[in-house]
Amino acid sequence: MDSRISVTDLNAKKKKGEKIVMFTVYDYPTARLVDEAGVDISFIGDTLGMVVLGYDSTLPVTMDDILHHTKAVARGTKRAHVLADMPFLSYQVSPEDAIRNAGRLLQEGGAQSVKLEGGIQVSETVRRIVDAGIPVMGHLGLTPQSIHQLGGYKIQGKTPKAAVKLLNNAVALEQAGAYAIVLECVPVHLARAITDRVGVPTIGIGAGPGCDGQVQVFHDLLGLYQDFLPKHARRYAHVGHTIRDAVRTYAEDVRARRFPTDAESFIMDTPLFSEPSEATAQPNAPRKRRQTA
Ligand code: KIV
Repeated sequence: MDSRISVTDLNAKKKKGEKIVMFTVYDYPTARLVDEAGVDISFIGDTLGMVVLGYDSTLPVTMDDILHHTKAVARGTKRAHVLADMPFLSYQVSPEDAIRNAGRLLQEGGAQSVKLEGGIQVSETVRRIVDAGIPVMGHLGLTPQSIHQLGGYKIQGKTPKAAVKLLNNAVALEQAGAYAIVLECVPVHLARAITDRVGVPTIGIGAGPGCDGQVQVFHDLLGLYQDFLPKHARRYAHVGHTIRDAVRTYAEDVRARRFPTDAESFIMDTPLFSEPSEATAQPNAPRKRRQTA
C-alpha cells in the first residue's frame, strides 16, 4: 500500500488550514533529502530545462526529459506526493495525446499526479485526463510555456479585467476536476481572493502568503542557480559556493599531491612489486557504493 501523501491528503490540508509545502526536485539524491526534510509535494517541474539543462526557457523540455527525471525522483521519494510537469506540446495538441502523456508520467515515471498550464482553454483537456483517473494540478498567472504570448516574465492579473479573467480561469479548472492550482506571479490580493473562492488548494509562487501552500525552485532557495534570484524567492543556503570551494580544494590537493593518501588507497594481499610507499601501506576498506573485490 502506498503511504505517500495523496491528493485527498492535500485537499484535507486546505480544509484544516494547514499550509502545503511544494518544492521542485530533479534527481535521486536531492529527492531523498527533500523527502527527509518533510516536503509535501516533490515536483519535477519543467524549470528543469532552465536550472538543470541550461536552456533559456522551459519550451525545449520534452516528455523524455521529464520522464527521465521523474523516474529518479520517484525512486528517491517515500513520503512526498510526486508531481510531474507536462512539458510544452505534451497536452496542447489533443486531449487524447494529453491523456497518453499524462498516463506515461504515472505508469513509466512513477508520479502520482501531473501539472499543466492554462485556464478555460485547457479545461476540457483537464476533465478528460481526470476522467482517465489521473489527478491534475492546474497552473495560472505567469505560465512560462506561453512566454511568447505573454510578452515576457511579467506579473499577471494586475488590471481589474485581467484579475476577473484569472478568477474565472481558476473556477473553470476547479469545475474541470483539477485537485489544486498553482498561482504564479499574481498580486497578493487577487491570489487571496482566488484562494477564498475555490474549494481546492492554491499553491503560490510569487503570489503572497494568502495561498494554501507555496512552491519554490530548489536551485533558487539553495543558491545553486547563480544567474539571478527572483523577487519571490529567498535564499536559504549558498550550496553553489560550497560546491565550488570544495571542488577547488580537491583540485588543489591533487596538484599538491595531498590527495590521495593512505586513507584513500588499497594494497595487495601479497606485495609483488616494490615495498608500498608510506602513502599506501595501510589497507583501507572501500566505500560501499564502489564495492571492490
Ligand atoms: O516548472 C516549475 O518549476 C514550475 C513552478 C515554477 C511552479 O512550474
